[in-house]
Amino acid sequence: MKYLLFSIATLAALSIPQNALAAGDAAKGQTLYKACIQCHGEDGRGNPTEEAPRIAGQYDWYIISSINQFKAGVERKNPKMLPYIQNLSDQDIADLAAYISQMK
Ligand code: HEC
Repeated sequence: MKYLLFSIATLAALSIPQNALAAGDAAKGQTLYKACIQCHGEDGRGNPTEEAPRIAGQYDWYIISSINQFKAGVERKNPKMLPYIQNLSDQDIADLAAYISQMK
């Protein structure tokens, strides 16, 4: 029981950074997005050959939570994309989300 409570507290603590993010910088996000183009496309519309979904115009908070889930690899796994996101900082992810969410 103690262990369970500890786990819940740890999970709660881990989830704080996702909610307490600094605002993203879309210009920096545009530069970082170059690494994503091969799969998600220049315009963020996805790439069927890579089975990469459309992400353009998605809510920034959803992009951030998706990338963090793939980074953690527990709730969602994405071995194809992992090498491209595993070294991104929280700020990088916020910048990417700011850029991608404003794509049409
Ligand atoms: C090697 C191909 C590849 C690269 C490079 C790649 N992705 Fe992905 N991405 C995928 C695939 C495939 C999925 C779908 C995985 C799944 O849901 O199982 C995905 C899913 C996503 C999702 C979740 C979409 C949703 O609706 O849930 C986001 C957000 C995302 N990618 C952002 C990025 C960003 C930002 C980059 C660049 C830093 C990037 N990806 C680079 C292949 C890639």
